[in-house]
Amino acid sequence: MKVIKNKNMNKLEDFFFNSIIIEEKNGKFSQNIKKKKNSELPAGDLLIKVQYSSLNYKDALSFSGNKGVTKYYPHTPGIDAMGIIESSRTEKFKPGDKVLVTGFDLGMNTPGGFGEYISVSKDWATFLPDDLRPRDSMVLGTAGITAGLCINSLQDKHTIKDQKAIVTGATGGVGCIAIKLLAKLGANVTAITGKEDSKEFLYSIGSNEVILRNEFLESVRKPMGKGRWDIAVDVVGGEILSGLIASMSYGGTITCCGLVASPEFDTTVFPFILRGISLIGIDSGEAPIHEKTKIWEKFAVEWKLDNLDSLHRVVDMEDMMNEIKKILNGKQVGRIVLKHN
Ligand SMILES: NC(=O)c1ccc[n+]([C@@H]2O[C@H](COP(=O)([O-])OP(=O)(O)OC[C@H]3O[C@@H](n4cnc5c(N)ncnc54)[C@H](OP(=O)(O)O)[C@@H]3O)[C@@H](O)[C@H]2O)c1
Repeated sequence: MKVIKNKNMNKLEDFFFNSIIIEEKNGKFSQNIKKKKNSELPAGDLLIKVQYSSLNYKDALSFSGNKGVTKYYPHTPGIDAMGIIESSRTEKFKPGDKVLVTGFDLGMNTPGGFGEYISVSKDWATFLPDDLRPRDSMVLGTAGITAGLCINSLQDKHTIKDQKAIVTGATGGVGCIAIKLLAKLGANVTAITGKEDSKEFLYSIGSNEVILRNEFLESVRKPMGKGRWDIAVDVVGGEILSGLIASMSYGGTITCCGLVASPEFDTTVFPFILRGISLIGIDSGEAPIHEKTKIWEKFAVEWKLDNLDSLHRVVDMEDMMNEIKKILNGKQVGRIVLKHN
């Protein structure tokens, strides 16, 4: 593999690199690790040699041929990437700089971090903060940025310390980082999970209480039950979100960011007009780069999470293919980090 490190991207020599590639034939999708040529990457301001990527639910959808995420195949998923600038068309970034790219179109219709190289717009990249280890940045990845944006929004209305917090999809990527961060900020955290055997894990990352999904649903009284929680991070939608809306305390706030259970939910206006609760939508994909940078910087210092090692496993491309099947079945626990050679 040979690359001329030159600021002018046009002078790059051809080279090959490894990539997970999803191909479509007669409506069927196949997934393989293949060699790709740099000239197959889109023209971008930055050519980045990816060191780490991570697995998010959206990657699994792209991997399995979900056209709501990826319209055009062949394609390489990976909405997250931490890497080193190989060549740059802009003064802001120089070869050798360590950068982070998450969201925007990366891994959706732009080849993503499940390949060893990406080529992207300068507007999608931000510097890796000095105090954040490269691997830790991808333990966080989009899941972390999303959890961070949720908690940032909650902080606009609530002092997190001593608040009664509830997190759904607790063992998943967004869920487990939200729990760790809320616990660090002093909240009293309840985790909702579908995995009976994950209670120990959820207590170990800072939950004070763990409730099984079915038990939670059985405990909900609609249209409005006892006010039990002040703040909530919901990644699952559906009936669970309906249950949360009916169970928030006066002035409570729910951040809504996911749909693993269902994109639809039922509610009435009562919790909104009688208890003044708020439901806030969170999108990390298209969040402006300065917002993402702010969250990365918080995770590097003020929100630095210890013991991230217990939250993730590192895999190679081959293993990543198996992990994707698990996340699609809701069986994943914690975060999966992809390390390129
Ligand atoms: N808005 C944004 O910017 C943004 C960014 C990132 C992710 N998301 C969305 O957030 C959601 C979670 O993403 P993620 O990366 O954290 O996924 P993940 O790692 O797969 O976590 C999802 C978790 O939800 C729970 N779950 C799975 N199926 C369920 C079901 N049918 N009903 C209820 N709970 C179920 C499981 O946890 P338990 O077994 O512990 O319950 C699972 O581990 C996805 O919908 C994703 O698209 C949105």
